[in-house]
Amino acid sequence: MSGLVLAFETSCDETAVALVDAAGRALASRVASQEDAHRAFGGVVPEIAARAHLTNLPPLLDGSLSDAGASLADVSAVAATAGPGLVGALLVGLSEGKGLALGLGVPFIPVHHIEAHALSAFVDPAGALAAAVPGRFGALVVSGGHTHLYRFSGPRIDRLARTRDDAAGEAFDKVAKMAGLGYPGGPAVDRLARRGRAARPFAVPQFKDRSTDFSFSGLKTSVRERLTEMGRAPVSGLPSGPALADADAPQELCDLMADVEAAIVAQLVDRMDRIVRPERFEVLTVSGGVAANTLVRERLPAWGRTRGVDVRVAPKALTGDNAVMVAFAGLRRLAAGRLGEGFGAVARSRWPLETLV
Ligand code: KG4
Ligand code: ZN
Repeated sequence: MSGLVLAFETSCDETAVALVDAAGRALASRVASQEDAHRAFGGVVPEIAARAHLTNLPPLLDGSLSDAGASLADVSAVAATAGPGLVGALLVGLSEGKGLALGLGVPFIPVHHIEAHALSAFVDPAGALAAAVPGRFGALVVSGGHTHLYRFSGPRIDRLARTRDDAAGEAFDKVAKMAGLGYPGGPAVDRLARRGRAARPFAVPQFKDRSTDFSFSGLKTSVRERLTEMGRAPVSGLPSGPALADADAPQELCDLMADVEAAIVAQLVDRMDRIVRPERFEVLTVSGGVAANTLVRERLPAWGRTRGVDVRVAPKALTGDNAVMVAFAGLRRLAAGRLGEGFGAVARSRWPLETLV
């Protein structure tokens, strides 16, 4: 075996290692979540994340090589996420990646985390051949830090819309926190919403200037009012006790979570309708942590079918942070001879995708 791309992802609170072959088949993918280490703080603590990456990375690398039945001698390039993310956390994967590449005498490919998410919709985590990436497509990235729509056109990437305040995932997380559902909130809201009925829709925010940007911060205020109305004091600050168990959630709370989820998805659909149609995209990818959401996975493809847009939601296993997407993005860059800053890459907390070369 040879021609493998080895990748590291350490931009936030997931440590991940993956190996893909030259055709984009995922041969190994290991992810160590640090959720438990951060839960008591109600969010990610950067210093804890960086230290955990240092501990987690070596065993994940050994495990990935053994899953793929490969050795380091089979690796012909190393990729690692260089940003955007927590600098201390990024440095762990980036330094390890550069060091290994240097030692092996192979190219090093710095990868943009959001480009990797956008491309994850074309990869099969089970190891089948990756789908062909179209020359032009739209990419909606919905995660804890991003709610952005991009146009990928050849090597060029343009941003078509962004959130003006909170990201969609942040909205899920903040609502969940207020409702005492713990961290991370998205999966908890998803679970309760399945038992609820969306009956009191929240308005989809519109800007006076008709901008197609996203906005999710107003939702928090509306939810706070509804929680108060229900006699449930909104939770703020550090979590004071364990999260509410699903089984203890009353029906009215499940209904509220269904309304929240519906409002977030309605806004995504509204913006896609207003941007994607004039752009005449044939393909739209939907990726990032929020792409794991049940209603997102249902409604966006359904919307696409009515508009003649092939909506490709990332495989569920690749919605959260993972290294398969990093390896695949790296592989494409390697094939195109576009290694960016290569070994000179630095860790970046901010790195607008549209500035990528
Ligand atoms: O992509 P990701 O793992 O990390 C970032 O790069 O931000 O996304 C994490 C976000 C969190 O806000 C989390 O609550 C949200 O994705 N999320 C969900 C679901 N699963 C994860 N949101 C809604 N429904 C879900 N099932
Ligand atoms: Zn991410």
